[in-house]
Amino acid sequence: MNQLGIGIAITGSGSATPEVTLDNYQLSQIVETSDEWITARTGIRERHLVGAEGSLRAIATTAAQRAIAMAGLAPTDLDLIILATSTPDDLFGSASQVQASLEASKAVAFDLTAACSGFVFGLVTASQFIRTGVYQNVLLIGADILSRWVDWSDRTTCVLFGDGAGAVVLQANESDHLLGFELRSNGTQNSCLQLDYTSQNKEIVKGVVVGQGTYRPIAMNGKEVYRFAVQKVPEVIEKALFRANITAEEVDWLLLHQANQRILDAVAQRLGISKEKVLSNLAHYGNTSAASIPLALDEAVREGKIQPGDVIATAGFGAGLTWGSTIFRWGRTS
Ligand code: UT7
Repeated sequence: MNQLGIGIAITGSGSATPEVTLDNYQLSQIVETSDEWITARTGIRERHLVGAEGSLRAIATTAAQRAIAMAGLAPTDLDLIILATSTPDDLFGSASQVQASLEASKAVAFDLTAACSGFVFGLVTASQFIRTGVYQNVLLIGADILSRWVDWSDRTTCVLFGDGAGAVVLQANESDHLLGFELRSNGTQNSCLQLDYTSQNKEIVKGVVVGQGTYRPIAMNGKEVYRFAVQKVPEVIEKALFRANITAEEVDWLLLHQANQRILDAVAQRLGISKEKVLSNLAHYGNTSAASIPLALDEAVREGKIQPGDVIATAGFGAGLTWGSTIFRWGRTS
């Protein structure tokens, strides 16, 4: 197939979360916090953690296998694998490690980094390869292990994050189910949320100094990010809905990056979307960054909440700062 104007269908989803959990009571033993504070301010009750022996490769592979099986494909059918992550096992990229684990021998694989917007940015990136007719079967994974990079003595951030992976399969299709999208970034606000490299000088020969350092734990200005999210997320969804020629009333499910229940509620209210249409699982997982949207999507699909043909409005937002929205119909319906 090599023609323009090819449509996209999202035909499978999968997810994987580690078994080990950490609840708010356990957190209150390591920092000055309480279940009441965390639940009231965020809606989070527990989070899943990968632990010292686990790997991004492993959880991403499991989520991917489930999505490929739901789509009715074999790994060798895949043309492209995009792994949205900010926490690869290997800074050179973990997508090809996942490709090897899946034995997806035909696929080309690469990482994509856009923090908590990674899944939405990945969905749009994947769809371009299908729309141009280059590839037919694309696997998109969102996976993160933020527990590796959280400062577990900082109560303003350590209560928020968890680990997980989610995946979807996108396929070339006669009708196009990716109805609209809008992506944005604003680097002038980069310092609001960072996991940045810090350098230490090392003189390798006289007069030649290189920087050899490490990454500092996650640092966030929570109030600024909150303000940004409740202002910019409704705007970007409205833009994507406009491009899709769809009204907010026609949306069956609002699927936002699972950062904070208050953000989910505020965005839904601004859009005039009722609470019953807001998908939320952050009570059990916290903020799993690039994994949060496909994880909540997969749960809702497997619970039978999301049905083929349902219109889903997604939005990711976070470090960069980055934010974006996609509007799509679930499944392979014509
Ligand atoms: O995926 C990336 C996107 N990230 C986000 O979306 C995060 C957006 N921001 C937020 O979700 C919220 O800003 C937070 C949940 C991070 C914080 O909620 P908040 O209502 O903005 O609280 P705050 O930062 O204004 O803090 C209120 C008080 C402060 O005490 P004082 O100064 O009023 O005495 C904090 O020191 O709560 C204190 N506090 C805590 N208390 C108990 C902060 N963290 C905690 C804690 N436990 N864990």
